[in-house]
Amino acid sequence: MSPLKNDRLLRALLREPVDVTPVWMMRQAGRYLPEYRATRAKAGSFMDLCKSPELACEVTIQPLERYPLDAAILFSDILTVPDAMGLGLYFTEGEGPKFTHPVQSEAAVNALGMPDMQDDLGYVMDAVRTIRHELDGRVPLIGFSGSPWTLATYMVEGSSSKNFAKVKGMMFNSPQLMHVLLDKVSRAVTAYLNAQVDAGAQALMIFDTWGGALTPQHYQTFSLAYMEQIVRGLKREAEGRKVPVILFTKGGGLWLEQMADSGCDALGIDWTLNLADARRRVGDRVALQGNLDPCTLYASPQRIREEVAQVLESYGKGSGHVFNLGHGIHPEIDPEHAGVFVEAVHELSRPYHLG
Ligand code: CP3
Repeated sequence: MSPLKNDRLLRALLREPVDVTPVWMMRQAGRYLPEYRATRAKAGSFMDLCKSPELACEVTIQPLERYPLDAAILFSDILTVPDAMGLGLYFTEGEGPKFTHPVQSEAAVNALGMPDMQDDLGYVMDAVRTIRHELDGRVPLIGFSGSPWTLATYMVEGSSSKNFAKVKGMMFNSPQLMHVLLDKVSRAVTAYLNAQVDAGAQALMIFDTWGGALTPQHYQTFSLAYMEQIVRGLKREAEGRKVPVILFTKGGGLWLEQMADSGCDALGIDWTLNLADARRRVGDRVALQGNLDPCTLYASPQRIREEVAQVLESYGKGSGHVFNLGHGIHPEIDPEHAGVFVEAVHELSRPYHLG
């Protein structure tokens, strides 16, 4: 495997010195890019795109051709794991993900099988290998999964949800059953992330998109505890380097201290926090990734630069910051504005890394 030409991301995640702040965007391969829409049309559907290693590789690389990004992220979806556990994932236009067999009873939880990483998810590992080959050491490749709690919300609801009636119903009425489900999903996710590392992923991110919908106590018991279980089971070194783990709970600002003690290397931060406060709270335990409000990219180039400057100033001097949006880039964003954002991070961050 070729040596990394740009390892800023890995260095910043481990709080090692860098020349400028590394930057990437959540959902950087997506519908805001006309070339993504063209490849998706060629694939037929979003799932066909995920299941074709060549096309998944093509869309993974597309944003890197446009912008000087410091990382690639595997093109896939968090819901591939429940799909591989037999739930039957499909997407309907404008309505998001759906499962043909949601998990809504004790029998359904007990019937859930462990997915086989080769037979059921081999297409993801093939995509990782294809992307690593194509990247040829340009930037590191981030692998990812959903958190067990976030995956469980989709598995129990059968789709996206506003108030999580069914999954919270299960959590309150049958906590033991919920724990059986979360433990099964955690074991599947651990195997999935380790298989991604074996295939060539150089950093890992766990997306806990819906952890912020929980009470503090339920967050600890039903989300964080299972992410800790996963982190404990991960391979943390590959190809002679550490494989950093980023944990992102959207809306988890209240619980940074607990998250920083989870064993991960970095925390993803949404835009509801000030990075100076976040940095003070986590100290030197973890790096921070974030946290520009994605809606900033609707603003003028001048305003985008000002907001980037503000986020850089809030983090302050030194390494340990990976610049990102606080959540995924929206499909309506002008690709030129994304470029202004990425270039502003590199240009304006240099003074923070001198001396
Ligand atoms: O960041 C990247 O570029 C990597 C690719 C990536 C996708 N999904 C591609 C995708 C990643 C990391 C994800 C994670 C994901 N998927 C999450 C967690 C992150 C987050 O955004 O909070 C969640 C909750 C999902 C589940 C999911 N997948 C939903 C709810 C949807 C529909 C959303 C929508 O905007 O319509 C998807 C589909 C999806 N996953 C798209 C992409 C590019 C849009 C599909 C399309 O229509 O082309």
